[in-house]
Amino acid sequence: MLSLALSVAAPALFCLAQTGQPRDVAHGKELFLRYCSGCHGEDGRGEAKTFRPNVANLSVKELMDQLTDEYLFAAIKNGGGAVGKNAAMPAWKSQLDDREIWDIVSFVRTLAKR
Ligand code: HEC
Repeated sequence: MLSLALSVAAPALFCLAQTGQPRDVAHGKELFLRYCSGCHGEDGRGEAKTFRPNVANLSVKELMDQLTDEYLFAAIKNGGGAVGKNAAMPAWKSQLDDREIWDIVSFVRTLAKR
């Protein structure tokens, strides 16, 4: 009985370990459009007219492949200054909780796949 339970639970645990935690990409998109698209643009290319200094282009696969999820998380949570980037990238830790930030990270990951 115990071994049956283990064989059912193990793949689920593995899956969870791989992704850190379950993420909600649709929710991430909603948050991105609300909080981030003003500067980064809806597609992450940073072409929003409202913000002129260079905004990172989140849709270039070659660049995004070099960035870890942990880095993206830290950049969003603590702001550009915390990861050695332009401090014009705000810190979001007071507006967004960790789960919301992970949801956004998974949405940001979809921008570079197109
Ligand atoms: C006020 C404008 C502004 C807003 C709003 C904003 N950003 Fe940024 N962001 C920037 C700028 C400017 C940079 C570039 C910093 C640099 O390259 O030095 C940046 C950089 C980043 C980076 C780092 C990319 C890299 O190549 O290192 C990530 C990730 C990011 N932003 C995600 C987000 C997310 C997610 C949100 C919404 C929660 C958001 N940003 C909201 C201006 C903004």
